[in-house]
Formats: sequence, C-alpha cells, structure tokens
Amino acid sequence: MTPIDRRQFLQNSAALAASLSAFEVAATRARAEEPAAQPAKDSKKVGPNDQIRVAVIGVKGRGMEHVASYLKLKDARITTICDVDKRVIGPATRAINLVYGSEPKYVQDLRKVMDDPEIDAVSIATPNHWHSLAAIWACQAGKDVYVEKPVSHNIFEGRKAVEAARKYNKIVQTGTQCRSQKGIQDAMAFLHSGKLGQIYMAKGLCYKPRGSIGHKPDGPVPEGLDYDLWTGPAELKPFNPNKLHYNWHWVWNTGNGDLGNQGIHQMDLARWGLGKMEFPKTVMSAGGRFGYKDDGETPNTLTTDFEFDDALLQFEVRGLPTNDELGVKIGDIFYGTEGVLAITSYTDWQAYLGPKLEKGPGGKGGGDHFANFLQAVRSRDAKSLNADIEEGHLSSAYCHLGNIAYKLGRKLHINPSTESFVDDAQADALLTRKYRQGFEVPTVV
Ligand SMILES: NC(=O)c1ccc[n+]([C@@H]2O[C@H](COP(=O)([O-])OP(=O)(O)OC[C@H]3O[C@@H](n4cnc5c(N)ncnc54)[C@H](O)[C@@H]3O)[C@@H](O)[C@H]2O)c1
Repeated sequence: MTPIDRRQFLQNSAALAASLSAFEVAATRARAEEPAAQPAKDSKKVGPNDQIRVAVIGVKGRGMEHVASYLKLKDARITTICDVDKRVIGPATRAINLVYGSEPKYVQDLRKVMDDPEIDAVSIATPNHWHSLAAIWACQAGKDVYVEKPVSHNIFEGRKAVEAARKYNKIVQTGTQCRSQKGIQDAMAFLHSGKLGQIYMAKGLCYKPRGSIGHKPDGPVPEGLDYDLWTGPAELKPFNPNKLHYNWHWVWNTGNGDLGNQGIHQMDLARWGLGKMEFPKTVMSAGGRFGYKDDGETPNTLTTDFEFDDALLQFEVRGLPTNDELGVKIGDIFYGTEGVLAITSYTDWQAYLGPKLEKGPGGKGGGDHFANFLQAVRSRDAKSLNADIEEGHLSSAYCHLGNIAYKLGRKLHINPSTESFVDDAQADALLTRKYRQGFEVPTVV
C-alpha cells in the first residue's frame, strides 16, 4: 500500500486524535509532513532494498519512541514488531498502520526475528537484562543492531556484545542519544580543545526524584504475557505485577537502578569528557534506598567515585527532592584548571572561565541518533557511529562497577586490561550472572 499522504493525514487528524495518544499523533504527523526521501548518494554501498528493514523488539515505553523515530525516517521500514506481552502492541501497530497503510508483522518470540532473513536490523528496547543477549543473537544472525542503554546487565555480557559486533562485522549503535546532539558534540569539542585547561574532575548528576513503587503481592501471570520469555537470561521468580513493566529497573534481577537507567546518559558524557576509553583504577560507592519502604531494591541515593591517575569521576544519584548545581539536575559538570563547563540538558551547555568563573561560550543543538545508525548501516562504517557498542559497553560497565561497589560496601581495585578486579573473588563474582538454560550469554560469541 502507498504511504499516507500529507493532505489525507491532516484531514484525518481529528479521527486519529480520538484513536491514538497525543504522542502517537505527533510522531505520525512529523512523518507525514517530511519531504520525500533523497536517493542514496553512493548506490554501490546501498543494499538491494532501498529501505532498511527494521524489527523493533520491545514496543512499550522507549520502544514506541523507536517506532516513531523510524516512521520519520524514510530510508527505514519497520516490517516487524516483537513483544513478549501481546497486551502492549496496540499503539505501535496503529501508528505503523497509519503511516504505511498496513500493519507490521507481529511476533512474540524474538528468536523468530533473528531467524527472519527479511529483517536487516533490529532495534532493541526491552528491559536491561535482555540487551546483550538479544544483541549477540542478532549479530550472529547477520543483523545490524540499535540497542538501548545500558547495553548490558553486567560487565561480562557487555564485552561479549562488543566481541559479537566485531566478529560478525555488524553495525551496533548504543541508545545513548546525547552523543548525536550537536550541542553536546560542541561541548565535548570545547572540552577537548584544552580551553578549560586540564580536566581534573567530572561530575555526573542524576537528580531525578522518583516516588515509592509501593508493595504488591505475587500473582498469576496475565493472559497474553510470556513471562518465561520476559525473564529470559534472568532468574525465573514468581510473577509480581509490581516488578514488570518499567519497575523492573528497581530490582537487581532485571535492572541496574537509576545509575544504569537515567544515570548512564550522564555517565557516558562524564567518561567522554574525560576521554577515558578504559576502566578506572578504583571505584567506591555509598548510599541506600531512603525515604520510603517498597518493593524496590536499588538505591535512590548513591554517590560513586572513580579514580584515574590524572582525574576523578564523581557520580551522584539523588532520587528524592533536591537542589540543582550550576543549573544542572540531570547533566554533567566538568572542572578544569582554567574553568568549569556545565551540561544542563541533553542538548545545552555553558562554560565559565577564569578564577572568577565568568560566563564563557555555551550553546545548544539537537540531532538524530537513529538517522546516524541508519547511515552507518548503509555505509558499513562502524566508525561513523556516534555511540558504537564499545562506547556503550564502557559506560554501562562504569554503572555496573558503581553498583558492585555499593553492594560490597568497600573500595574496589580494578585491573583495566582484564576488566576485572585485583585479587578479589567476591567482586569478580558480580561481573557476570548465572544464566538460565537456553538463555546463556556465550563465552565465545
Ligand atoms: N535512550 C533513552 O532515552 C531511553 C529512554 C527510556 C528507556 N530507555 C531504555 O529502553 C529500555 C526499555 O525501557 P521501557 O521504559 O520501555 O521499559 P518497559 O518495561 O516499559 O518496556 C519494555 C518492553 O519490552 C518487552 N519485552 C521484555 N522482554 C522482551 C523480549 N524478550 N522480547 C520482546 N519484548 C520484550 C516488554 O513486554 C515491554 O513491553 C530500557 O532498557 C531502558 O533503559 C532508553
């Protein structure tokens, strides 16, 4: 069928608004108003299909944003959506139908996506415990991958995802989209130009108040949900409705707390700004889940320090009401011998120079992380990715290091070349997990 045309779309807006959420309408309107796709510049590098055929895996919260993003990009076509929970696929199905004039194929089991030769790329927006294994399976099946952050649930599997990308020569983008925003790229160029002197400290701030999730008893698995497959590589526990969609972030079996949720975006920028492409020498953390008692396990208040030979990276999660610092609540502050630079959002930055910290250069600007992924898929140049899987692995690993130090309650010494701890079997045991049969992350990918 032909894609919806702009006039028809606008005429139908009232009816659409009644059947779709405001978000879905906005996403489809953006697509309908876009100009026609440009022909590829280098036809030799473009595959036989003009459009890159994408399967979105996990289509609830963030997955709907994946759907909306691909719908806006005319050189991609979402052919398939996949979710273990049949109850959630309505909005994605409707949005795709609205734009393409036909519904996507739906599959419940992601292994069918991997087996489908008519899918070029997968876009993974499942919970964290599935990210690395799904990415590895996709690489092994010959597909390019956009995988949400953190790219792993533990350090071992993140490194395996990098190895799979390299072994199968696949394009693997991490969902840390700040890396594609012009404002952030400019801030990093300013930092790396030396105009702030030597950067001796970076601070990542994740000051995002979140309420209690309360308590709910275990209960029956709802009809339409394949809970065994939802659990996948994690430990199979009795079903609890309070630990399913989204709230899995706050349970160690499936999530990584806010450090590995919101925090990883700011961790990624802190590491990028400091120019660190390896693990730190030491890590220590302190905190707790304060202010309420609920079914969550992860800390809502956490400070973590990472030591390097020439700099300190401090990260702070504050999940309860708090003040800002230099206008930053969710962002980063870099401290140099010649001044300070604040990243105040996903797109904005401001430098303060000299001993009096007078206002210096600043800026803002957006970008399209999904478009960057598709361009790399076409060019087959992983180096053109703004957030290659190696970057994603390192930033995810820093979050896992912070959580391991929190769990053990002591300073940990790290061997960066082996990505493990120094003479510390207890800490090393937390580098990986016991995988369920059928869902093992392979040691050799
Ligand atoms: N980059 C960003 O800005 C950003 C923003 C929000 C979330 N995220 C990331 O996106 C991911 C999803 O977050 P969310 O808030 O949408 O979570 P969610 O729990 O609301 O949705 C996850 C969906 O994945 C489905 N799912 C689980 N296992 C699956 C499997 N094996 N195969 C297919 N589907 C499966 C679930 O049924 C659910 O519908 C998380 O890893 C999160 O960190 C990234």
